[in-house]
Amino acid sequence: MSLQDDRKEYLNGELGDESLSANPIEMFLAWLEEYRLLGNSDSTAFALSTVSKDGTPDSRIVLLKEIRDEGFVFYTNYNSKKGRDISTNPNVHALFFWPEIERQIRIKGKVKKISRIESEKYFSSRPKLSQLGALSSNQSEKIKSRIDLELKFNSFKSESSNDYNCPDDWGGYYLSFEKIEFWQGRRNRMHDRLVFEIKWNSEWNSFRVQP
Ligand SMILES: Cc1cc2nc3c(=O)[nH]c(=O)nc-3n(C[C@H](O)[C@H](O)[C@H](O)COP(=O)(O)O)c2cc1C
Repeated sequence: MSLQDDRKEYLNGELGDESLSANPIEMFLAWLEEYRLLGNSDSTAFALSTVSKDGTPDSRIVLLKEIRDEGFVFYTNYNSKKGRDISTNPNVHALFFWPEIERQIRIKGKVKKISRIESEKYFSSRPKLSQLGALSSNQSEKIKSRIDLELKFNSFKSESSNDYNCPDDWGGYYLSFEKIEFWQGRRNRMHDRLVFEIKWNSEWNSFRVQP
């Protein structure tokens, strides 16, 4: 079948005007809960887009690990490509796509590092082998071969420590929200799009935009 014939109708739901008075964070939580209940793997995965110093955008998937008043928390290597982008430009975009319920959520915001203590606490809660994986990887750096990586992993493993310290260059960021758009697919491409923008007084301004 040609790609041009690959199309579907979106029939799963709709966003009435009453949703415009919702708190977008609570609405996000309700949508996320609905999606997680479907039992999809990686339901907290989102595409994080950053922009480098020279203005070039880049995207990759990361996992949402916590939702707080200040924003969404995710973890990564601070010296990775994304970490380097963020260090010169904290403006990012997050994109969740949940095809099973025909929804998309777009978030514009800024990221900041969480505290070292919080990163260490989360790091110590991770499975030991994931901790080793983080220790073994200078994320986004070139490596000659897979074997070199495995050797590094195994040498850390053979140190037989039961308590690995959180690497200095590994930790969390929180993404504070400035704008959130909820998209619900509708029949005939007449989709619903509700946008929430934060105002100077921390209240939300909401409006509908055309599909
Ligand atoms: C399902 C999934 C979940 C991922 N979760 C994370 C994550 O939470 N943190 C992370 O640093 N990378 C995660 N990755 C890997 C990133 O997509 C990416 O390859 C890596 O962070 C390096 O990106 P960068 O070179 O742009 O910094 C995940 C990838 C996938 C496909």
